[in-house]
Amino acid sequence: MTMTWTEAAPGVWHARIGDPRMLTPLTLIEAEPKLDALKRLGKVDPPFERDSVHMEAAGGGRRMLVLPLAANEKLYGTGLQFMRTNQRGRTRYLRVNSDPKQDTGETHAPVPFFVSDRGYGVLIDTARALTMHLGSSVHLEGTGKEDAKDRNRDAGWRATVPSARAEIRLPEEGADVYIFGGPALGDAVCRYNLFCGGGTLPPKWGLGFWHRVPALFSAEETLAEAKEFRRRDYPCDVIGLEPGWHSSSYPVTYEWDPERFPDPERFVRELADNGFRVNLWEHPYVSPESGLYAALKPLSGNYSVWGGLAPDYSLPEARELYVKQHQEKHVAIGVSGYKLDECDGSELTNNAWMFPEHASFPSGLDGEQMRQLYGLMFQKMTNDMYRSANRRTFGLVRASNAAASSLPYVLYSDLYDHKQFIRALCNSSFGGLLWSPEVRRARSAEDWVRRMQTVCFSPLAMLNAWGDGTKPWTFPDAEPIIRRYIKLRMRLLPYLYTAFARYLEEGTPPFRAMPFAVTPEEFARAENMRLEAQTINTSEGAYGKRNVPQWDDQYMIGDSLLVAPLVEGEKEREVLLPSGSWIGFETGELYEGGGVVKVRSGIETIPVFVRDGAVIPMTSALPHALRPGEQAPLELVHFGTAEGECRLYDDDGITLEHECGVCGWWRAVVARTEDGGFKGELSGPAPLPASYGSVKWSFARMGLGYHDE
Ligand code: GAL
Repeated sequence: MTMTWTEAAPGVWHARIGDPRMLTPLTLIEAEPKLDALKRLGKVDPPFERDSVHMEAAGGGRRMLVLPLAANEKLYGTGLQFMRTNQRGRTRYLRVNSDPKQDTGETHAPVPFFVSDRGYGVLIDTARALTMHLGSSVHLEGTGKEDAKDRNRDAGWRATVPSARAEIRLPEEGADVYIFGGPALGDAVCRYNLFCGGGTLPPKWGLGFWHRVPALFSAEETLAEAKEFRRRDYPCDVIGLEPGWHSSSYPVTYEWDPERFPDPERFVRELADNGFRVNLWEHPYVSPESGLYAALKPLSGNYSVWGGLAPDYSLPEARELYVKQHQEKHVAIGVSGYKLDECDGSELTNNAWMFPEHASFPSGLDGEQMRQLYGLMFQKMTNDMYRSANRRTFGLVRASNAAASSLPYVLYSDLYDHKQFIRALCNSSFGGLLWSPEVRRARSAEDWVRRMQTVCFSPLAMLNAWGDGTKPWTFPDAEPIIRRYIKLRMRLLPYLYTAFARYLEEGTPPFRAMPFAVTPEEFARAENMRLEAQTINTSEGAYGKRNVPQWDDQYMIGDSLLVAPLVEGEKEREVLLPSGSWIGFETGELYEGGGVVKVRSGIETIPVFVRDGAVIPMTSALPHALRPGEQAPLELVHFGTAEGECRLYDDDGITLEHECGVCGWWRAVVARTEDGGFKGELSGPAPLPASYGSVKWSFARMGLGYHDE
């Protein structure tokens, strides 16, 4: 079956299969492609003939979309995966599920988009759960005798037999298929993000430190805890409330509990006076005790969850009810946003809930579609609510899907493996997602420090103490280290904010996995080095275990910083450094890139590397991010021996005025002087961005210095 392709935007091709005219991630988000930015990326063809992508009829009346794969091609993405980065050779069941404990593809955000290291991406825009065979299915026709190997004798035997085809089972009704050109993997991801409306730009406070208090804390206890942050000199921007703020929860009312929160307005104001925003936990299932219940009932699905309604928010009437209540009770008194929990559903034996796939909703959507889209629906509805008040929000969500890059939400999970959390950070960058490796508790001070270090170098730096009541100062020996890293995050806010502004305007993810930063050849070289270093007894056939490194335990922030976390029990590790010279961000040690280096580090430091010549815009470690009208000193810190430059973005940090051009880009250039020193020049629409009252340069730094503040 041939497909008819049209160019939907520069370097983006679209083909429609069947009649998929129903709600999909792209239509729900009402994504407006950023055409100017896409044009700047130019036109480019994918590295295969478009006609080699075709449809095949298959068993059981299925329709398969077939794409050719090259011999060593790697495929990344399929959403928030925890178990692996390279999805080549895997079958992915892309279904929303809150317990991604097995490597099947099911996860909180199973995005039906993947990207290849040959430089193209593929999106199937559908509300259906989708199965992708990413080089995991081998046709008998085309299988030769030599393909059957003997595992007893042949060390070349592999469990996953290479297949040169990706086969995607399309939903019965059909789907929209998009192919994104490169030329590099990173370009294909940028095109995908730009096509979906660009990346999100959080309010400045969203990038500060977040703390969620125990589930049943009262207003008084919460205020006392918040003040403790100030007293102990720990920066903090957002206080998160958990289920106990609702008058009843599981199902929820969205109404303040009159005993724990007798005067919500005063509570929010008092926190604001101390520089804190309030984030409210909630979930979709509406309690019979909620004032919304009666009106929402006819607009809900025909199955209950925890005795509550599952409203159909694809209906404008349902959205109106939800938004009116939330506006009046929360937004109007200053609540900054939400943690949208439980919208993924679970099948765990001791903890199972969700409406079934065969549920039906008044709009005509069924339970499968609603579950795949529920997280997106809440993100869109709440974001629109804040946008209509000319305010930015930033929050958390536990389910997402395709086309989410422009939504101001960060994913999190009840899973808690530190390495998996780092891998999820890497994987989120391939598909327009953000992820928080939140810290909840720790087995030891070392575990605590290592997790805190990672989270401080992540999209959302949060301690989620809802169940454990842990505080940043819970492990007294580790206190100074934790404080230093939270402060270092605050100092890096100009750099982080600029990285997010590039996400908004250019589609470049602020946090990126290594395949964005090294070529497939460099990647393969490093992989072989590690494989060769593994001693496997090949005389016993192929029963030995080989660990194929994926370099998914390290990542880039922006163009200039590379983070290589250590987890509890590790004192040293290998790091894949892109070519060029690198400097230990805090230690000042010098490394030659273009391969693998070894680093050792005690718990007082997380290995972070900065490119030689990089200019990092920093500021002082304020107790909370700048509010409009406030100013801080700007520090432009140049590292190493090479000349270099950086960009710096600024706006008011909380409204949407930047979308009408009330924002600016500056360029900081460091060049050599005749006497061999360095000089710096900052240029832009004004001598200084409005957020900064002064600028201080420092040149040729070898490391930040351990106690430098
Ligand atoms: C979980 C969520 C936790 C916490 C808890 C409260 O589902 O992942 O972070 O919010 O609910 O009941």
